[in-house]
Amino acid sequence: MVPNRFSVTTPIYYVNDVPHIGHAYTTLAGDVLCRWRRMHGDDVHYLTGTDEHGLKIQRAAEAQGVHPQEWADRTAVRFEQTWDELQIRTDDFIRTTEPRHYAAVTKFLQAVYDNGFIYKGTYEGLYCVPCEAYYADDELTDGNCPIHDRPVENVVEENYFFKLSEFAQRLLDHYEAHPEAVQPESRRNEVLGFIKQGLRDFSMSRTSISWGVPLPWDAAHVTYVWFDALVNYCTAVGYGVDDERFAQWWPADYHLVGKDILRFHAVYWPAMLMAAGLEPPKCVFAHGWLLVGGEKMSKTKLNQIFPHDLVAEFGVDGYRYHFVADQRFGPDGDFSYEAMVTRYNADLANNFGNLANRVLNMAVNYCDGVVPTVRENGPLRAQAEAAYSGAVDGFARLDFANACSAIWELIRATNAYIEDRAPWALNKAGDAAATHAVLGDCLEALRVIALLSAPVIPNACAELWRRLGQPGAVDDQRLPAAAAWGQLPAGNALEKGDPLFPRLEAAT
Ligand code: MSP
Repeated sequence: MVPNRFSVTTPIYYVNDVPHIGHAYTTLAGDVLCRWRRMHGDDVHYLTGTDEHGLKIQRAAEAQGVHPQEWADRTAVRFEQTWDELQIRTDDFIRTTEPRHYAAVTKFLQAVYDNGFIYKGTYEGLYCVPCEAYYADDELTDGNCPIHDRPVENVVEENYFFKLSEFAQRLLDHYEAHPEAVQPESRRNEVLGFIKQGLRDFSMSRTSISWGVPLPWDAAHVTYVWFDALVNYCTAVGYGVDDERFAQWWPADYHLVGKDILRFHAVYWPAMLMAAGLEPPKCVFAHGWLLVGGEKMSKTKLNQIFPHDLVAEFGVDGYRYHFVADQRFGPDGDFSYEAMVTRYNADLANNFGNLANRVLNMAVNYCDGVVPTVRENGPLRAQAEAAYSGAVDGFARLDFANACSAIWELIRATNAYIEDRAPWALNKAGDAAATHAVLGDCLEALRVIALLSAPVIPNACAELWRRLGQPGAVDDQRLPAAAAWGQLPAGNALEKGDPLFPRLEAAT
């Protein structure tokens, strides 16, 4: 059978800043989704990378007294290291200063130009450097950029323009025919509202800066950073160099983006693709911001939190669990250290960790250290099936928090089952058959729990899988078949061990 191809992208991050938990939020969510799909046998392509051109990077480098390329080299590595530390598995890490990207952008530009969607004109406008975007007067808040709340700059330039205005109807038709192409629903409405107001052409080249990809037909201009950046999604899957590969992987299944860059992805980008004769992405999914003390993180506000500091305290799985299960992927969410500790202790130390420990300890003690026969229709079977279908539903909607709740319901049900059947009492009463039956049910539930939560907390699940005496790697198992009830082999040697998630005390 030919595997289903599934491709997911994150935004490519500006290298003016090192990665904080806001950047990691999207990249981690994509990783969990891709791990889930890989376990279903999909051929997955997960792409992330860095956006290295534009005025913002040029200025950041100047401020440090280094060439932009050197600055980009230094910072791009910080992103790669952070993704490694969080055990995020990517299939490619693209940097917009790579030769392959220059080649793709050049080809893309030429196609749009040849198709008649680019013309020369003069532009005077209000520019926000952190956004790398122009704003109209009525879009400003008290004269400031609505996103960064800081002054914009008046810029007059001879530019090339992209005829965005010609695409309004085509975009509306596209979104009418593909209602799932912008998610969640509220974001779709926002995009439709924006298009219906009428679209203005935008300037897609700069002469005021040199840090960018030169236009193939006029080398005095460099490509506007957003026009260049968006093309990365095509570069990475072979656009311009490997037509067969590109045909296999394009269009992307999901572009995961923050709400601040929705317009670029759901208006500019599909129009640019149409202009180049290519298909728009299947879905742009926009999530909210991760706030700290109710505010967006920024260098100037000194409220940035870095993944490494939290990993040191919570471990990789503790980190991953919090940002996947405890922050909703859609609306804005506020990060709270206290909430992270509370939820870690409740869900990981108490529910997940204690369950694994109790069941393995009892099974080692009461069942001679091996798995007893698992009952085909044990009382936890329906719960295990509900956990899988709840997870399928949650992951399909990118509602990671709900996918996790469905899995944690099985953990809670198994804990409640133990309390109810009290295998220690059955054992004391000498009822070996009943003790083995109950513990067989619980061990099988643990097997399913390890499988379903592996995309979120891979290390604890790998260890649990091993302690259950299971061969191979938990994330090499194939769903849905592997999740079907009753597959833990009788006689597997079991192992007790240290707590999978030691309890944490909140630092004061
Ligand atoms: N370089 C552009 C994207 C180009 S994609 C072709 C860019 N870079 S960025 O580094 O400023 O932001 C990248 C992403 O990080 C955006 O989706 C943004 O929403 C996200 N986040 C930055 N801070 C964030 C939070 N505090 N919370 C959640 N996401 C955040 O824009």
